[in-house]
Amino acid sequence: MQLALRNVTKRFGSLVANDRISLTVDSGEIHCLLGENGAGKSTLMNVLYGLYQADEGEIVLDGEVQHFAGPGDAMAAGIGMVHQHFMLIPVFTVAENVMLGHEETGFAGSLDLEAARAKVREISARFGFHVDPDAVVEDLPVGVQQRVEIIKALSRDAKVLVFDEPTAVLTPQETDELMQIMRQLRESGTAIVFITHKLREVREVADRITVIRLGKVVGEAEPTASNAELAALMVGRPVELTVRKDTPKLGDEALVVSGLTVTDKDGLVHLNDLSFSIRAGEVLAVAGVQGNGQTELTEALVGLQDHVHGSIRLDGRELVGRSVRQVLEAGVGFIPEDRQVDGLVGAFSIAENLMLDRSFSAPFVRGGSLQLRERDEFARQKLAEYDVRAPGITTPVERLSGGNQQKVVVARELSRDLRLLVAAQPTRGVDVGSIEFIHQQIVATRDAGVPVLVVSTELDEVVALADRIMVLYRGRIVGIVPADTPREVLGLMMTGERPAGAVA
Ligand SMILES: Nc1ncnc2c1ncn2[C@@H]1O[C@H](COP(=O)(O)OP(=O)(O)O)[C@@H](O)[C@H]1O
Ligand SMILES: [Mg+2]
Repeated sequence: MQLALRNVTKRFGSLVANDRISLTVDSGEIHCLLGENGAGKSTLMNVLYGLYQADEGEIVLDGEVQHFAGPGDAMAAGIGMVHQHFMLIPVFTVAENVMLGHEETGFAGSLDLEAARAKVREISARFGFHVDPDAVVEDLPVGVQQRVEIIKALSRDAKVLVFDEPTAVLTPQETDELMQIMRQLRESGTAIVFITHKLREVREVADRITVIRLGKVVGEAEPTASNAELAALMVGRPVELTVRKDTPKLGDEALVVSGLTVTDKDGLVHLNDLSFSIRAGEVLAVAGVQGNGQTELTEALVGLQDHVHGSIRLDGRELVGRSVRQVLEAGVGFIPEDRQVDGLVGAFSIAENLMLDRSFSAPFVRGGSLQLRERDEFARQKLAEYDVRAPGITTPVERLSGGNQQKVVVARELSRDLRLLVAAQPTRGVDVGSIEFIHQQIVATRDAGVPVLVVSTELDEVVALADRIMVLYRGRIVGIVPADTPREVLGLMMTGERPAGAVA
């Protein structure tokens, strides 16, 4: 099957999200759609999937112009979509999820489930997925849930499969597995549209690359194009892909953590007896596979964990036992790993989000009343300084792309007088141009003499930002090693092996 999009235009009010975009995808081909956050990739795919109606242009399948009134029509025509945020029902089994929405097209009554189970088994076997049709979705790791989405699409005979930023939620290992699945799908003749902003992934699987920027196709590139070429096309200017930083000017030990243990309410230990320190002007970056205690560590540092033992001293003052507000007032800046849960209030405006943690004091609140002029002036300034792409300061943050939302969080957290910065996954789901910017801000914070703790599941990011690297495994410190430690050694440490000479 050949899919062609011809001159697709989609507007939201005065914003042109897609501006006469044309591209084709053939069966047995992986076509990468590369572009910064907010470039218009998801919009284009939502048009293709019938979720949005194009204002102009057409969708053509094997030479025939299509008219999709909704996703049902798109699916019937052979288009499948693996969404960025999964659309599965967590409490249902795999088979029930695969069946869902399918009932009217053939299955009936209690036979549905048996047929769906068989289908899951058949597709799993075909692609070596190892997915149990009777497993409850919420019990499955994210990578496996994604496979359920793929099975669901394939069970509807999808000939064109769209993956919208599928690796954003995956571990490096799950990402490799997904790349392998995409190659298999290609072999079996599926036409694949793969949306991402990660250059490494593009180079690994793409047969063709189309780059879009600000709603327009700005170029096609060969998979042999260099990272620098691709990045420049995406962003529209040359991009610094490595983090530039001077040797650190180290001050005193500012953050001293000793015997830190964190349990959950049932007493299960998530962090086990951690002791380390960070000096003023130093970045300690924490590496490890997700789920080895990183979340608990950053949350304990900012007062978000309930069962904390041991001591966290910042400039000699104990933070354990203080409320989140007291911790923030002690000068701790926090970039949370999930900006939507802990970093922002989606329905609030940019201006409101920029002052969220300062709703108690001057300059934004005086004598109990909100100082709108100060707030808005501050917001306008930060919008410009951080290059947040938004119509204005009154735009609700939920309307912004992930990268722009992240910039709002970073702008807010770095605008206070900091004595410690805790940055968890600071560039997750963020495009190259914004990554460069956020990294610069983190380095500038360190250079201003602030101790910084960075947690990232991206080893590249850990290595780029770190002055020292701490590796966590199953809630314990495997070792603290210099930033120039070879990757193979770091990789081994992530599996719990302590290299000779590492300080624990
Ligand atoms: N439903 C919507 N209403 C208004 N604006 C939208 C809507 N969806 C997306 N946009 C805007 O359209 C542009 C493209 O967004 P999107 O397609 O999500 O980008 P990408 O997927 O490339 O990150 C952005 O400026 C975004 O804010
Ligand atoms: Mg998107």
